[in-house]
Amino acid sequence: MSIRTRSLTSQRANQLSPSGIRKFFDLLASMEGVISLGVGEPDFATPWHIREAAIYSLEKGYTMYTSNLGMPELRQELARYLKDSYGLDYDPDSELLITVGVSEGLDLTMRAVIDPGDEVIMPDPCYVSYNSCVTLAGGEPVMVPTNQKNNFEVSAADIEAQVTDKTKAILIGYPANPTGAVMPRDKLARIAEVADKHKLLVVSDEIYAKLVYGVEHTCFATLPRMKASTVLLGGFSKAYAMTGWRIGYVAANKELIAAMTKIHQYTIMSAPTMGQVAAIEALKSGEDSSQEMVDDYNRRRRFMVKGLNKIGLPYFEPKGAFYAFPSIKATGMTSEEFAEKLLMEEKVAVVPGSAFGQCGEGYIRCCYATSLAEIEEALVRVGRFVAKYKK
Ligand SMILES: Cc1ncc(COP(=O)(O)O)c(C=O)c1O
Repeated sequence: MSIRTRSLTSQRANQLSPSGIRKFFDLLASMEGVISLGVGEPDFATPWHIREAAIYSLEKGYTMYTSNLGMPELRQELARYLKDSYGLDYDPDSELLITVGVSEGLDLTMRAVIDPGDEVIMPDPCYVSYNSCVTLAGGEPVMVPTNQKNNFEVSAADIEAQVTDKTKAILIGYPANPTGAVMPRDKLARIAEVADKHKLLVVSDEIYAKLVYGVEHTCFATLPRMKASTVLLGGFSKAYAMTGWRIGYVAANKELIAAMTKIHQYTIMSAPTMGQVAAIEALKSGEDSSQEMVDDYNRRRRFMVKGLNKIGLPYFEPKGAFYAFPSIKATGMTSEEFAEKLLMEEKVAVVPGSAFGQCGEGYIRCCYATSLAEIEEALVRVGRFVAKYKK
């Protein structure tokens, strides 16, 4: 190919489709009076004591790079937190890496473990970045369908049916975005058995670990023989309302952390210093404020579920994260048509389920991390819309 006809952008970048979420929010930004059940982020500001710790650090002039791995105090606090929460021992000097959110952790993991053509098995629907991070790393995403009937839980047998000699890893994230599903320990244990039998790595995105309602979160690394073969991804964005601080972490065995650290040091250097200081405060004394927010999400969740019930949209009861994922199949519209029409006619923003994979078609994601008053008004509008179009 001559220089002139060659694309300026790489085939790898060209292969990616733009996030189905962003498209809607560009449209929404130009409209007034819209209630957004769209973006998956807390409506709370970061608790004051956490912001104050960061402000104080700025006053003291803590504005330099930190160690590539992250501040030693943060890694020690994180090791303590993982020990207290799950009984897991991670060495803060070689098994923990502080990242720019789970987003970077996910990207680093894929780049550190995937060779061209390697396959990574993941549930469909799933968080929008999973698929793309695998593709960007040169791998092949392999989707395993889940559905409302099985509570959007991915089955170990379905995963095993997709294992080939190219399979490198299983990527899961429970509590789940977009469905709000939380997988029980016994079912995760069956996935662990498959991983163990086929010597696969399990990448477990547990960013919503603290956001569970009346059920228990299982940390995948606590399952028998799983600690060494699990990459645990966690972060501060959701549980401490810290999305803008951009702090997350990877907990994994030494060999994996060493490989990821090489990539991290060339591309990022170190996660934001101010954010790391805030994360130390969150781990040291953020438990109460985090729990208050979780209790509030639970009130909103119950309200949302009651409202969906009244509207008559079939849904599966979400037990974690802050999303409901009702079916809109009764309207005969695709999820994208539904979301677009709802935005134009009733000024409510939701995300079409198809943005999260083929199995998300026929559903919409409604984020309930917004005020009860807004959820109430949004439900009135959605109810009116569904009544108009239901077949
Ligand atoms: C499942 C899941 N993983 C990861 C992320 C990214 O989180 P972070 O802000 O830590 O990069 C999100 C954000 O919405 C998410 O929903």
